[in-house]
Amino acid sequence: MKKIMLVFGTRPEAIKMCPLVKELKERKSFQTLVCVTGQHREMLHQVLDAFSVVPDFDLDIMKDKQNLFDITTNILEKIKAVLEDVKPDIVLVHGDTSTTFVTALACFYLHIPVGHVEAGLRTYNLDSPWPEEFNRQAVSIISKYNFCPTVLSKQNLLNEGKNPTTLYVTGNTAIDALKTTVRENYQNENLDWARGSRLIMLTAHRRENIGKPMEHMFKAIKRIVDEYEDVKVIYPIHMNPVVREIANRILGNESRVRIIEPLEVVDFHNFLARSYMILTDSGGIQEEAPSLGKPVLVMRDTTERPEGIKAGTLKLVGTEEENIYKNFKLLLDDEKEYAKMSKAQNPYGDGTACKQIADILEKNIGEKK
Ligand code: UD1
Ligand code: UDP
Repeated sequence: MKKIMLVFGTRPEAIKMCPLVKELKERKSFQTLVCVTGQHREMLHQVLDAFSVVPDFDLDIMKDKQNLFDITTNILEKIKAVLEDVKPDIVLVHGDTSTTFVTALACFYLHIPVGHVEAGLRTYNLDSPWPEEFNRQAVSIISKYNFCPTVLSKQNLLNEGKNPTTLYVTGNTAIDALKTTVRENYQNENLDWARGSRLIMLTAHRRENIGKPMEHMFKAIKRIVDEYEDVKVIYPIHMNPVVREIANRILGNESRVRIIEPLEVVDFHNFLARSYMILTDSGGIQEEAPSLGKPVLVMRDTTERPEGIKAGTLKLVGTEEENIYKNFKLLLDDEKEYAKMSKAQNPYGDGTACKQIADILEKNIGEKK
């Protein structure tokens, strides 16, 4: 029987791969195995628990304040034995993290075919996001199956000369997950705290923003909160200690800002669904917000998700304090501007990406019945 192995290691990969794990495990024409690198520890296991996915292998590589050398060398060294032992017929990786790149590299060294889920996203700026733009471009050089979320991401790969027979537009598996999480009767103590105010959801963690850019973001938010008494901010903070230090220093004493531990994905999606707007430098949230019709100020200089900009929900505001402040204020003061950005649209498929990917794999590598 043919073997498929999914390898992932961080929170966003897990959120978008767990629904696929479930779909593949239901197909009897191949054996599905899961290897987690443990690039994230708590934030990864939070998602695995939420989806009741139990990995077959855990490389458990996370170290406090790990750098890119730590992640790369530790995964490369540890994954070799797993791949040699299991000998998968195909390995599926997701997106653009170090886990993704290093796993693909290891597969290349061992002549194992790679399928890339969420393929073809590009900024064509290797510094932004860093190192993710390199990671995803590198995977595209070797991937045999490319599951593109949109026509635009497929077009990027065609422009790069990828063989069209390796490209499939499936939508993003993020939408498959989102379809199951938002509930009408959801309640939470933090939402009770924010009731009667305009709730802003905040997240920030990008490596290239750590330092001055992140300070600028938080200072802009502090200025708004000090000015607007009807605004409350909930910030489920990333576990990176460096991010925590900057956030606590600038926002830690604000009574209308709650910095809380990372939310379980069901909670997070329900918070988003009840927010007034979102400020973030996250990739995945840019895919979820258009479906929910929530305006997003993307605190980055580039985005690989132009579909959300086109849909009108996302606005790139960079990382300068004044520009973030100005755009934040605009959405609080100008009803028309707010209405323009809060139309629910979904450029990322109909929530059947996992089924489509499983069908393609079944047709191409599954045992013939
Ligand atoms: C990684 C990905 C990034 C993705 C992000 C999602 C790379 C290079 N970066 O960045 O693309 O957007 O995940 O969140 O692959 N930590 C914990 N517990 C956890 C997770 C992290 O303590 O569960 C702390 C550790 O001190 C760790 C640090 O956060 O060293 C940074 O984690 P790391 O995976 O290196 O980088 P991220 O910024 O999370
Ligand atoms: N998310 C979550 N809990 C949180 C914050 C985010 O479950 O407290 C989810 C969010 O819905 C999205 C994903 O995590 O699906 C985004 O992950 P992150 O921002 O860490 O990484 P990125 O998408 O930027 O790679």
